[in-house]
Amino acid sequence: MRAAGRQALLAQLQPRAARCRLVRTRPVWFRPIRPDDERLLRDLFYSHSAETVYQRYHAPLKSLPAAKLQELCTLDYDDRMALAGFIGEPGEERMIAVGRYSRERAGTLADVALIVHDDFQGRGIGTRLLARLIEIARNAGVGGFTGYVLAGNSRMLNLFLKCGFPMESDLKDGVHAVTVRFKERGPVRNA
Ligand SMILES: CC(C)(COP(=O)(O)OP(=O)(O)OC[C@H]1O[C@@H](n2cnc3c(N)ncnc32)[C@H](O)[C@@H]1OP(=O)(O)O)[C@@H](O)C(=O)NCCC(=O)NCCS
Repeated sequence: MRAAGRQALLAQLQPRAARCRLVRTRPVWFRPIRPDDERLLRDLFYSHSAETVYQRYHAPLKSLPAAKLQELCTLDYDDRMALAGFIGEPGEERMIAVGRYSRERAGTLADVALIVHDDFQGRGIGTRLLARLIEIARNAGVGGFTGYVLAGNSRMLNLFLKCGFPMESDLKDGVHAVTVRFKERGPVRNA
């Protein structure tokens, strides 16, 4: 991505409060992950339940090596993007959710995955995170998302179903391969 394009993209990615169901008690705000977020991401990973980790990674991951954490925090904000949700004041924030997408190259669909800390699930944060990621991805020219969702994960399937774009899904070996194409605009729910 050209420098000017990247600047414009980063400008529109400034932290923004979100109208989550949580907002009245503890506002949740979002910004892209930065290289210095390694500690916050590590704290988030090690505070998830085993079930949440399994639903996200499709494996009972027990640890995230430092090199992997660094890689997850080092993005080009074009083909590889991650948006995190936080509570607390900037400088003292706690990361409570992450949504990320990556694509092989321009013109391909991007793989997307989300995770919300157990204590904050079911309060609209995933819905808001996916909506923001779609907004960012569309501005970056991504044509759609693919996601892999374990059978029975109706909360994530619901999120895709209601994201405002038609969803296709193919269930194989206990995993739904979900595709959402942005071109065919459906009724917008999360604007
Ligand atoms: C899946 C996940 C990201 C969703 O985030 P969330 O913040 O919990 O989701 P939301 O609160 O925005 O709710 C999503 C929808 O599921 C619905 N929902 C809530 N609980 C549900 C349940 N137990 N069963 C089915 N649907 C449910 C909600 O009603 C909501 O629909 P609505 O907007 O019409 O009310 C989050 O639960 C999570 O991190 N799960 C573990 C990791 C995971 O599964 N990642 C997906 C990998 S692709």
